Amino acid sequence: MLTQDELKRNVAAAAAEYALTRLKADSVLGVGTGSTVDCFIDAIAAHRQRFRAAVSSSERSTRRLADHGIAVLDLNEVADMPIYVDGADEIDLGLCMIKGGGGALTREKIVASVARRFICIVDESKVVERLGAFPLPVEVIPMAREAVARKLRSLGGRPALRQGFVTDNGCEILDVSGLEIAEPAGLEARINDIPGVVSCGLFAISGADLALVSSQKGVRHLERPEGAAGDI
Ligand code: 5RP
Repeated sequence: MLTQDELKRNVAAAAAEYALTRLKADSVLGVGTGSTVDCFIDAIAAHRQRFRAAVSSSERSTRRLADHGIAVLDLNEVADMPIYVDGADEIDLGLCMIKGGGGALTREKIVASVARRFICIVDESKVVERLGAFPLPVEVIPMAREAVARKLRSLGGRPALRQGFVTDNGCEILDVSGLEIAEPAGLEARINDIPGVVSCGLFAISGADLALVSSQKGVRHLERPEGAAGDI
């Protein structure tokens, strides 16, 4: 029986192979955040000469990349990024995700938006039929926290401030439980529209293009069905 850490290392190794066979010597790789991504960074480290550099979605990943001697570029210097690799807290079969358990959702969404292909790496426990058992992280400007919380309550959610946590952008996170997420892209757009919201952890308007899913049986590929994400 493989442990969850072993499942993470397996999917990270599969993602490293997937990425490295597609990157060229001048390619820039987008790198997400989290414990699964930590394994991915470790897996690509020995092959850092096969691509030019990385763009990171958090201070945490930047430190790990730099510790491995992988060059990290500012996103403002990068116009083309073939691949972005990141984990998720939940992913559905349309490859819509909840992200932000590690609090890096905004930078993740920004870096992912520049990439041509989003590769999500998860173990089987993250695959769900409907998103929403995992509380939805919403990054907020601190002065707007209570105003945003009231709007989230009116959408049926129960927001809770992530105590003692400040994002890389100097903001706060509300973790919202109890939301009915029947239409992920529509809800993402509604929450994004609340003044004071920096970004929300729904990645549905633009979901993943491919998920690598690690289980006891190995790593399988889940492709996004045509038209599944981004339909508001
Ligand atoms: C960080 C994230 C992570 O991708 C998500 O929390 C999954 O993390 P892990 O691989 O540690 O389970 O969105 O903001």
